[in-house]
Amino acid sequence: MSSRHARVRASAALRGSVVVPGDKSISHRALILASQARGTTLISGLSRGGDVKNTARALRRLGVALAPWDTEPLTVRGAGLGGWREPEGVLDFGNSGTGIRLMAGLLAAHPFFSVLSGDRYLRRRPMRRIAEPLRLMGARIAGRAAGTLAPLAIEGTRLSGIAYRSPVASAQVKSALLLAGLLAAGETSVTEPERSRDHTERMLRFLGVDVRVDGTTVGVGRVREWDARDLSVPGDPSSAAFLVAAALIAPEGEVTVRNVCVNQTRTGFFEILRAMGARVRLVRLREVCGEPVADITSKASRLRGIVVPPELVPQTIDEFPILAATALFAHGTTRITGAAELRVKESDRISTMAAELAKLGGQVRELPDGLEIEGGHPLRGAPCASHGDHRVAMSLAIAGGAIPGETLISDTACVATSFPEFWDLMNGLGAKVALS
Ligand code: S3P
Repeated sequence: MSSRHARVRASAALRGSVVVPGDKSISHRALILASQARGTTLISGLSRGGDVKNTARALRRLGVALAPWDTEPLTVRGAGLGGWREPEGVLDFGNSGTGIRLMAGLLAAHPFFSVLSGDRYLRRRPMRRIAEPLRLMGARIAGRAAGTLAPLAIEGTRLSGIAYRSPVASAQVKSALLLAGLLAAGETSVTEPERSRDHTERMLRFLGVDVRVDGTTVGVGRVREWDARDLSVPGDPSSAAFLVAAALIAPEGEVTVRNVCVNQTRTGFFEILRAMGARVRLVRLREVCGEPVADITSKASRLRGIVVPPELVPQTIDEFPILAATALFAHGTTRITGAAELRVKESDRISTMAAELAKLGGQVRELPDGLEIEGGHPLRGAPCASHGDHRVAMSLAIAGGAIPGETLISDTACVATSFPEFWDLMNGLGAKVALS
């Protein structure tokens, strides 16, 4: 990954109305499910970030015909359910936990050999959470560190459904098993401690597949096939979160982000912001391809610190870096607990955010399963680092844009994994960011 730098200075106001790129989670699922459909799918609004691009590349290696990457909408010629072909080389998922884990579920049921790997960050992330339950279904999966880390080697075989009780609320685990379950004998169900994002279930239903939901249990049976149906991907709330936060902590202004997915399993950040006193509103609510969508408006606000209810953790999981940065600007203390999962994201987001926000003068205490941020202390721009984590880089850029002095963020190339348009969109709203 190249080591691009971002220099950020304070801006007086942020204003404008923008569209963010397609939701990353939904984009992965759109490509994967389209590739398994019977017939051709047109996908509009797909994320063109590096993570989704790697999933597309892997699908090409599995024999799926995709139109050139920059065509809009993107055409995917489905191979039919179970129709992927043995790849010649290693499937490289780059930085993407979603890509590798979801595809592993389906590959476990395809009768051929595949090797799945990724960048140095992904190769450190836990794969036991999918490998173990897939093995219970009959999958043959080997990997580094006694089969718990990528590269993973999969010898596809016949699978049988299981009723799995997952120790973590993880949409990647749930989706890997449900996707494997589409090709497995009998019923496959996953019960989670809390409900994780439900895009897989919604998209399967949109495609006509029977998905049973009972509380935090989701189940599917073996499916013969489904017909392709065009998909439209709404904007990513996890990308919108940065622009919403930037508007709140700017001295003045108002920003609208249009066409954002506001699925309740994703909107914890906006709920928390409102509890902090933020002027954030969801307007023009509608539904697109089974997903709720709205425009989000955000105005400069006076924020107060809060204790984040632990039950909001799953629907806020990707927004804790930007929440921690935003909490620096609130009066009083913000306390986040019950979020130990943050330690196994693209970086250990508890320790990276505590360390990097401290460099800006933030009073941040690392907890075993969260963070405590004391807002209202004087802050000043300083050199800080992304740790190769896109959301850490963008969170630091948002904080840096609201404090005196210059914030120099190193290694910002990672931002392109989810949100390559971030810097241009920010400058378009009035931010002062320079890349070098
Ligand atoms: C995702 C699920 C979440 C989330 C990740 C995307 C998905 O991960 O943090 O960014 O698309 O299924 P976990 O399943 O590990 O919680």
